[in-house]
Amino acid sequence: MKPALVLALLIGAAVAGPAHAQSAATEGQKLAFDRGKGNCLTCHMIKGGDLPGTIGPELKDIKTKYPNRDDLVAIVSDETKRNPQTVMPPFGRNRILSEKEISAVVDFLQTL
Ligand code: HEC
Repeated sequence: MKPALVLALLIGAAVAGPAHAQSAATEGQKLAFDRGKGNCLTCHMIKGGDLPGTIGPELKDIKTKYPNRDDLVAIVSDETKRNPQTVMPPFGRNRILSEKEISAVVDFLQTL
């Protein structure tokens, strides 16, 4: 392969990575704030969201608290696995959110 082509591919990959994560996080924020979708604001204070409830903990410093992305996917998919008493809806198990939507929400959570 020509060096110029290798360089172009490397630059392409570098640009595509963060840009993709950024747009997924934006989509995730929409889903999280949408009252008919994630509806996370009903229970959680989240930076940038209006009229939050306080049934759940404020969602902040999420990356520090849960460095492992899979833990967040698990919480959003079905928190009853971790805490059978939780009032948080199992968004994955109940199919309120698709796998792809949960992934976008988790991308958003990781920006908090
Ligand atoms: C009906 C209220 C309710 C809704 C709606 C809700 N949650 Fe929760 N959530 C909770 C409660 C309560 C907890 C505390 C842990 C528990 O109950 O097991 C929690 C915990 C969490 C945690 C762990 C926080 C920590 O600091 O440990 C995350 C992350 C989370 N929720 C994300 C979300 C997201 C994302 C949504 C929307 C897709 C959402 N929650 C919707 C009630 C809710």
